[in-house]
Amino acid sequence: MKKPTTRPSALFVTCASLLIGCSQTNTPQTSTTSPSPTAWSQGSAAGNSTAIPVGVGVAQTSNVALLGQEQVAGAKIAEKYFNDKGGVDGTPIKLVFQDTGGDEQGAINAFNTLINQDRVVGIVGPTLSQQAFSADPIADRAKVPVLGPSNTAKGIPQIGDYVARVSAPVAVVAPNAVKAALKENPNIKKVAVFFAQNDAFSKSETETFQTTVKDMGLELATVQKFLTTDTDFQSQATNAINVKPDLIIISGLAADGGNLIKQLRELGYKGVIIGGNGLNTSNVFSVCKALCDGVLIAQAYSPEYENEINKAFRDAYRSQFKKEPPQFSAQAFTGVQVFVESLKAINAQSKVSQKPLAQLRTKLNQQLLIGKYDTPLGEISFTPEGEINQKEFYVARIKMDADGTNGKFEFLK
Ligand code: ALA
Repeated sequence: MKKPTTRPSALFVTCASLLIGCSQTNTPQTSTTSPSPTAWSQGSAAGNSTAIPVGVGVAQTSNVALLGQEQVAGAKIAEKYFNDKGGVDGTPIKLVFQDTGGDEQGAINAFNTLINQDRVVGIVGPTLSQQAFSADPIADRAKVPVLGPSNTAKGIPQIGDYVARVSAPVAVVAPNAVKAALKENPNIKKVAVFFAQNDAFSKSETETFQTTVKDMGLELATVQKFLTTDTDFQSQATNAINVKPDLIIISGLAADGGNLIKQLRELGYKGVIIGGNGLNTSNVFSVCKALCDGVLIAQAYSPEYENEINKAFRDAYRSQFKKEPPQFSAQAFTGVQVFVESLKAINAQSKVSQKPLAQLRTKLNQQLLIGKYDTPLGEISFTPEGEINQKEFYVARIKMDADGTNGKFEFLK
């Protein structure tokens, strides 16, 4: 069951339920022109040129931007793709970006701005589960739908009625990497596990990894803890290497995780390494360079998935970035897609442009939970609670050039 939502504040009711009203005190970063507070909802004529504001609150700065940058790229490709196709029956969408940075307070500030000043219809964000547990309740109380684009910790959809996610949870994704490692290396017996103890997702993912290890009859020889802010892992790495593991599994984020991989290899560890979802970005390549080679990471997206929308997304990403699109970009694209297609479904019943904002946000939340979407991730839908139903998962191995300057994810068959 979802938690009951509490009453919105009086100030919020004024802002959300009126078409005209709240003043703006800062200028949001937008990928097009700056919105006025009432821009999208003022016009009611078919084909009006105002745009529907959809919020994107992800990490554009801090270490977490190693993940957030990929989300911005995916969301912007979606904005162009859907607007080129006519937006919401002739009305374009406009993404309004607010930088969450890498911590909870940054996410709270970004969400408040998106909700009260930018007056978005819904929010794609934040980047981290750690941030979602703080910021999502604010959107939930304000009755603004949130689509988590990368929040994979246990318990995200249960934050509230207005919280759903397009990022499959650790329990579904992470075990695939352990199974793939064992398939390729049946002699793996002893496992060392590392996790970032200050990060909600890493704590959740390590639980899944540790359970999987035990369920598969492997020996969990040691569990080592670190912080996402750490740069020196000598002591934990030495502790782990001393138990002579065949497999090391890391749940952390990109900068810390990349450094940990580097230091494990420098200290002489030669066995298999699995990285979790927080390391699932080519931005780790510049951290561990040639020493990233061989790391296995489970994937909720494959660039080779065959459907029309993934082909369009992949072509657009490759022509802009000259490499294959990563999971974080595909999931952010999917978040924007779910909002656009749900807005179209609402518009088919009654004009989106004529709905007061508060009503539209509520309707959008109801609609998105009942739709089915053909996305770059494959066909998806949601449980009534807001958990993603997704069918296809993969495992990839990092392949680095010998000099460590270039790398790629090679998908296992
Ligand atoms: N999957 C990571 C999280 O949920 C990014 O925080």
